[in-house]
Amino acid sequence: MSILSGKNILLGISGGIAAYKSASLVRLFIKSGANVKVIMTPSSKDFITPLTLSTLSKNPVYSSFVNEGDDTAVWNSHVDLGMWADIFIIAPATANTLSKMANGVCDNLLLATYLSARCPVFYAPAMDLDMYIHPSTLKSFEALNSYGNIMVPATSGELASGLVGEGRMAEPEDIVAFIEKAIIDKLPLKGKKMLITAGPTYEAIDPVRYIGNHSSGKMGFEIAKASANLGAQVYLITGPTHQKISHSLIDVIPVVSAEDMYNEAHKYFKDVDIAILSAAVADFTPKEIASQKIKKKDASLILELTETKDILASLGGIKTNQFLVGFALETDNELENAKDKLKRKNLNLIVLNSLNDEGAGFKNDTNKVTFIDADETVTEYQLKSKEAVANDLLNKILEQINA
Ligand code: CTP
Repeated sequence: MSILSGKNILLGISGGIAAYKSASLVRLFIKSGANVKVIMTPSSKDFITPLTLSTLSKNPVYSSFVNEGDDTAVWNSHVDLGMWADIFIIAPATANTLSKMANGVCDNLLLATYLSARCPVFYAPAMDLDMYIHPSTLKSFEALNSYGNIMVPATSGELASGLVGEGRMAEPEDIVAFIEKAIIDKLPLKGKKMLITAGPTYEAIDPVRYIGNHSSGKMGFEIAKASANLGAQVYLITGPTHQKISHSLIDVIPVVSAEDMYNEAHKYFKDVDIAILSAAVADFTPKEIASQKIKKKDASLILELTETKDILASLGGIKTNQFLVGFALETDNELENAKDKLKRKNLNLIVLNSLNDEGAGFKNDTNKVTFIDADETVTEYQLKSKEAVANDLLNKILEQINA
């Protein structure tokens, strides 16, 4: 999954020959999971048709304040478009459009939207080599960069004029990669490594049977996704689950038993900044695993179980600078038990979910949690989706590590 997934991207197209590449750009944004709307300057329509772009973006294309031939005169609001956008990219950005942007001219919809947009604005210049180094163009770049706009530099190569030099618009793939990197670089967990455990563990009884539990893994997977979306490199150690995840910043490490999870967690822990242990690890495992399938010779069977290693407590025992978060699933005396776990396992934060709360716990898509931090401050939350709980948890962690 790309960091652009779910983002609203506004693509502004101005009138240069590189506009023919805008179709590929729209396709790549859509492929990355983004929502795309396109604004064209009137002259850009000489280079590529609005129909191509609306088909690819799955949205109407805007190019004037009122749509031509539309008697109802519906107003295309530059303010609404600017507010809708999480990212505004102007590609190709011609010398003319850049100069107008630099000087606050807003004689078309694209420029008025630029002045209204509150989101990060990127621009990918495209022009002939002499235009690209003309002092007036350089002045536009300087002004735009000083406003906080981000330039996706042009590259060198053969230009439409037949001349060879700098001024070719960056290739659509490179524009997408540039924006992804710029966004990741600004994210609050950029450069942080995180270990997350999720799901149940299966403790083998014989070659075909195991002791497991009802954990779906959903909570841990949501935390992994939210962490990666904030820029963290995530090692997600998960027991058997139906959850699926694909994200450039998440490495999934599948395990089966508590012992496997213990070993993998210890392998990664020393290199991480934050560890969140949300897995429902078996507390007991069969003392012996039968090498053959156990036959039902007798009317009853006694399995001898032995305690598993407590992963969370063991990490609490060796932690140096890591911010360590545990979960507590309680049925009685919840707060006291959770506070006790927080201290006993040397945690920075514990997430309490009570089985007494409807909608909380294992199998649901929702959870109702209470956070208790190291100084025993208690913060209670309402019942929410597990995705929202994951975001609350990461906000809490960010608040604590930046305090
Ligand atoms: N945990 C773990 N390794 C285990 C058991 C639990 O890492 N072998 C972690 C869980 O991932 C969770 C936390 O410990 O973050 C709390 O698990 P829980 O079962 O609620 O607590 P226990 O310490 O096992 O205590 P008890 O069963 O007595 O409530």
